[in-house]
Amino acid sequence: MTAPRQRPVQVVILAAGQGKRMKSVTAKVLHPLAGRPMICHTLAAAAGLRPQRIVLVVGVQSKLVQETVQAEARRLGLRPAQVSFALQRRQLGTGHAFLQAEKALGTARGDVVVLSGDVPAIRADSLRRLLRRHRSARAQATIMTAVLSDATGYGRMVRDAGGRLIERIVEHADATPAERAIHEVNCGIYVVERQLAFDAVRAGKRSNRQGEYYLTDLVHVLRGNGHKVIAHVHPDPEEVKGVNDRRDLARAGGLLQQRVLDGLMKKGVTVVDPQHTYVEASVVVGRDTILHPGVMLEGGTRIGRACQIRSGSRIVDSSLGEECEILDHCLLEESRLGRKVRVGPMAHLRPGSRLADEVRIGNFVETKKTTLGRGSKANHLTYLGDASVGSRVNVGAGTITCNYDGTHKHRTIIGAGVFIGSASQLVAPVKVGKGAYIAAGSTITSDVPAGALGVARSRQSNKIGWVKNRRKRIKRGKD
Ligand code: UD1
Ligand code: MG
Repeated sequence: MTAPRQRPVQVVILAAGQGKRMKSVTAKVLHPLAGRPMICHTLAAAAGLRPQRIVLVVGVQSKLVQETVQAEARRLGLRPAQVSFALQRRQLGTGHAFLQAEKALGTARGDVVVLSGDVPAIRADSLRRLLRRHRSARAQATIMTAVLSDATGYGRMVRDAGGRLIERIVEHADATPAERAIHEVNCGIYVVERQLAFDAVRAGKRSNRQGEYYLTDLVHVLRGNGHKVIAHVHPDPEEVKGVNDRRDLARAGGLLQQRVLDGLMKKGVTVVDPQHTYVEASVVVGRDTILHPGVMLEGGTRIGRACQIRSGSRIVDSSLGEECEILDHCLLEESRLGRKVRVGPMAHLRPGSRLADEVRIGNFVETKKTTLGRGSKANHLTYLGDASVGSRVNVGAGTITCNYDGTHKHRTIIGAGVFIGSASQLVAPVKVGKGAYIAAGSTITSDVPAGALGVARSRQSNKIGWVKNRRKRIKRGKD
């Protein structure tokens, strides 16, 4: 006989429901949690079991769910053949959903782990423990349970007189007051012997309040046939709570978020206020970086060591080198920053911004598809779009690259060491040569050679004594 550990395992994930209690046009399992659709978290836990096969039962928004799962499966390094889908055309209950997976599972023997797509915080470790328990107890079905002080909405575990075996699971809606007083609940996570599982579910009746086929009916059917059905009590109820409405969604999101932040703190990142910091699981943050309250780090963002990210800044799919400082209330999107770059407060780096080491971007500055060379500064009220800015350039307050002519975008090229006076406009396409100066208030429409001063504004004339004369004129008019 094969050792219990090596026996093959298959996983079925139920993910076909609408999730009526979410009151949403989006299928429940697609709602995002910690930056990923809910179903991705369950899939990741399932992948941790190294199963022969994972079958997802899809129904509502099946195409989108399928695409989401396929993308996540690739990210997790699952082989395409390991993941398959079964369509549940009408959502007739969890038992009916499970039956749809039968064909996709093929004839493989062994244990089937059944997961609910709406229990996203479950960890692979907990599933491994469940499986070990199932195998060491030589049970035909093992159900993950938790003890909740408020069990409203959950299926209740009815144990036998000795308390060791599970007799049946009764849904909240169908439970008697005595059954509702049971605090041990079904988490929607099961291990069942493949050979018995489908027949047992098929034998279940649709005679319940919802008129649905309940997966939970397999318990009393198996017990009726003398099989061993046990519970494995999970010590942490939070991990195994289901998401049925938006409040559950927020709670689960908080839990997943806490895990991400705990992981960062373990690696030497300071999170000043974990309750008010949002970091997606995909983000990498270097040691000694400090995240202040209200920071959001998303997608493929990578933050180097010893950076400071101040309050209210959101960084999406961007990379920051070491010792950068992002001051308060900045938005960075698809941007790359070198070392010791300082941005903000209140700056917007749009996609394609590339800032070399020691660049300074100040308040109310927006950049897009723009590179700035080492040590360059744009400190106040500026728009730089489609621009290549060399090193050590000083961009004065209120500078604007006029990159759009109403039809096309054009580039502005600014050489190293250029000084651009305040309130200048550079009408692209235009080049400013190395070391050139642009006089404040200029509207530059043609190239400025290296080392030249570009002035493009009307000459000033002063009318001496004008104010006094005006006053006199006014007085005369009044007289
Ligand atoms: C279910 C259990 C309940 C348990 C709870 C734990 C049943 C009958 N009840 O209730 O005992 O305490 O989970 O969270 O199983 N689904 C389908 N097709 C359907 C119906 C549901 O695929 O026709 C999927 C849903 O997408 C969801 C999962 O099954 O991912 C659970 O369905 P849900 O309606 O949330 O069941 P609960 O009422 O939470
Ligand atoms: Mg549920």
